[in-house]
Amino acid sequence: MKNIVLIGFMGVGKGSVARAMVQQTAMMALDTDDVIESMENRSVKEIFAKEGEEYFRNLERKTARWLKKKVEGTIISTGGGFFKVPAIKKVGTIVLLNAPFETIYERILAHPDADKKLKKRPLFQDIDKARALYEERLSQYLKVADIIIDVSDKDVNTIAKEILKKVKK
Ligand code: S3P
Repeated sequence: MKNIVLIGFMGVGKGSVARAMVQQTAMMALDTDDVIESMENRSVKEIFAKEGEEYFRNLERKTARWLKKKVEGTIISTGGGFFKVPAIKKVGTIVLLNAPFETIYERILAHPDADKKLKKRPLFQDIDKARALYEERLSQYLKVADIIIDVSDKDVNTIAKEILKKVKK
């Protein structure tokens, strides 16, 4: 059985949706940032600060090679830039979670842990730079996606259900 790979911009809710999908199925989930942090025994923020972005992207490519070879039937939530690894389509069915940038940003700000959520993301330190990155990536996300889900104004359980229905078709 193919993996279900959730892609999309930082803060769009990939991890929360993956957890909701786990509740609704017998499937298990993993997160590429969590795998990398666990292997490195340090946070993504620390990796970016000490080693730089390219080092982190290399770890993402290594993770993708492992996923392609060794993981199946799993829900995989990914970091916002993971979709750029070579042959991403071979990792599984690609599901894009999408919402306008302002919606994503407002939702992060509304969260009780907003500060923590922003601080842990090196590429979300400057709002204008984050918006520019979103605008640059949007067409790339759309191009690579097999399934596109608009997540604005929907709760995670509804989104999870919608994905599972579309994947089965
Ligand atoms: C990144 C997104 C982050 C994390 C890293 C880089 C990106 O993951 O992988 O900070 O390039 O968009 P989230 O999408 O979970 O925030």
